[in-house]
Amino acid sequence: MSAVVFEGDYEFPLMVVRRDALEHNIATMAAFARDHGMELAPHAKTHLSKEIAQLQLAAGAWGLTVADTRQARAVRAFGARRIVVANQVVSPAGLDWAAAELAADPDFEFLSFADSVQGVDILAEHAGERPFRVLVEMGHAGGRAGCRTLEEFLRVAAHAAKTPGVEVAGVAGYEGGLPDAHHVRKYLDTLTEALGHLRVRNPILSVGGSQWFDVIGRELAAVQARILLRSGAYVTHDEGYYRERTPFNRIGGELRSALEVWAYVLSVPEPGLAIVGMGKRDAPYDEGLPVPRREGVTVLRMQDQHTLLRADGLAPGDLLSFGISHPCTAFDKWRMLPVVDEDYRVVGTISTDFH
Ligand SMILES: Cc1ncc(COP(=O)(O)O)c(C=O)c1O
Repeated sequence: MSAVVFEGDYEFPLMVVRRDALEHNIATMAAFARDHGMELAPHAKTHLSKEIAQLQLAAGAWGLTVADTRQARAVRAFGARRIVVANQVVSPAGLDWAAAELAADPDFEFLSFADSVQGVDILAEHAGERPFRVLVEMGHAGGRAGCRTLEEFLRVAAHAAKTPGVEVAGVAGYEGGLPDAHHVRKYLDTLTEALGHLRVRNPILSVGGSQWFDVIGRELAAVQARILLRSGAYVTHDEGYYRERTPFNRIGGELRSALEVWAYVLSVPEPGLAIVGMGKRDAPYDEGLPVPRREGVTVLRMQDQHTLLRADGLAPGDLLSFGISHPCTAFDKWRMLPVVDEDYRVVGTISTDFH
């Protein structure tokens, strides 16, 4: 029988992956996409893990999304045959790699975003025999990259259409930074309008994080395009940022928190104050601090190797568990994470491939 994680040779702090939650989330999102006529290209920047990528692909994902060509190389090595780089790619080394992969494998599909004439020209400089297929990115004011007006979008799309070595495949956007469903709907209208201007056969419309896929599923149901959803954080979900924002707070169903960090109390230097051996190197802190699983414990602040808690009744050597907030800055802190069952028996390993 496999060992319980607390009884083996494991050092703490330790981040563990709950197998039941991970498998539930992968199956839930695969079903959601299927039921809404969408394809899933999960954002692999969340985990950059071979084991998780392969589970997502086995569950029917169309392909994988990444943030840059370094991550593209990683997921290609994991076995991805379709990759979306959800950014304009300007890295010569990355583009040369992509051109070589396209040349070597006629079944390999590589898509990237473009939001400028310069970006398109850089692609063209590095294109091989098979063109670089681009999703012209339409952004929104105050958001991330992407054209800000329809005129700009059309200028970039027209330039890409006439540039040898580049081919327009559709439209991309990202609604994750928008404040509410009303703004998301308006933004999706803008994307759909932009798509309507393209003369592309079997176009792709790619959107989607883990906050608004319910609105996306409803609004884009009738759009004549392959809808590629790029949700990433859903895969482990969390007990902070995404717990508050998941569409499953509005529709039937649920995601489950799959990541936990376990750490020892190292010191109780004052009444009501405990120092835990878990710091910013071990758990995310950018979109909310770790969430203690014990009543009456509050996280005051985190340092690189420590977390300061307000709590009574703790003693050095106590082992505490924390949920996390923001999966996308959790996995990069670990090279190997044990996968545990409901009794905390180690049933597998998740490896990651960040820098
Ligand atoms: C362009 C883009 N697409 C998709 C995602 C995935 O969103 P989420 O992490 O909410 O699943 C992100 C996340 O930052 C993103 O930047």
